[in-house]
Amino acid sequence: MKFFLVFLSLMSFGFAEKPDGAQLFTTNCSACHMLDQMVVGPSLVEIREIYNGKPEDFLKWCIKPGKKRPNAIEMPSMVHVGEEGLREIYVHIMKVAEGVKAKEAKKGDSYVTSPVQTKRPQIQRIFMPDAGPAAIAVALDQTMSLCWDAGQCRLRYSWNGGFIDGYPYWQGNGSSLAKVLGNIRYVEASSPFSDLGEPKFSGYRIEKGLPVFKYRIGNCGITESFSAIANGGGFNRSFTMTPASPAPVVLNFPSDQKVAYTSDKGKWVGSKLELTAAEASAFTIHISFK
Ligand code: HEC
Repeated sequence: MKFFLVFLSLMSFGFAEKPDGAQLFTTNCSACHMLDQMVVGPSLVEIREIYNGKPEDFLKWCIKPGKKRPNAIEMPSMVHVGEEGLREIYVHIMKVAEGVKAKEAKKGDSYVTSPVQTKRPQIQRIFMPDAGPAAIAVALDQTMSLCWDAGQCRLRYSWNGGFIDGYPYWQGNGSSLAKVLGNIRYVEASSPFSDLGEPKFSGYRIEKGLPVFKYRIGNCGITESFSAIANGGGFNRSFTMTPASPAPVVLNFPSDQKVAYTSDKGKWVGSKLELTAAEASAFTIHISFK
């Protein structure tokens, strides 16, 4: 566990840009904290009451949470967010909760009934099975989800059915893995760009609730984003490469999966996609489950 935390804080999402407090809050905290009511953890209104004007105490709690409320689970440490990110989250919380009044808590299992758990699309930074410690779980819609590994800059797998059950992870205070709810339908063992070199993660932005992952291979900046094919039938995957590659690009996708590959550009040779340099600057692949 200790190893994980050290590793995580080193990776700390190495954002090239200044971290955005609202975005970091969504990914790391919103599963358990809502603006105006207690769900798994206290509302932002209550947090503001306790920590307004005390950013250092807030930071201390987030890095090494204590045990305060008798009926609440233990909050997992948020050390992986990094100090700079936690400070941005602090500013965000103090701002959005200002002047807001808290509502009465609902009865029942606060985790299951939490409206933030059923929100779609959804992005969660969480330990996932068969992925590195910098995994990000993404619910594209009600039925399609995927696990993207920010450590290795690649899609790990995709599934349909439900999203994830984070409870084992949260309750184990970070020492367990979240559970995939549904059937894993597609797995990648390496990045499709593996011929081009070692990718380096440079963060992500959120568009319409979904992440646009950014990474670099050599001089080339790559973005990768996803959308669902209806009814859990698969997913679309869009890439851009900037500046445009000086040479044609070949992407390798796994040949042993029960899927059909199509794309808006390029030529498929089995499960390899060949793109001219111009085509490689922006293209979309459709991965349909068979
Ligand atoms: C898995 C659920 C979970 C996540 C994710 C989570 N928290 Fe919490 N948080 C809790 C729970 C539960 C408590 C109450 C713990 C207690 O009182 O013993 C809490 C309490 C707090 C408190 C109040 C501490 C106090 O002094 O009463 C703050 C501040 C806080 N969380 C900040 C954050 C921030 C910031 C993030 C994201 C970076 C975050 N939490 C992510 C579950 C979570």
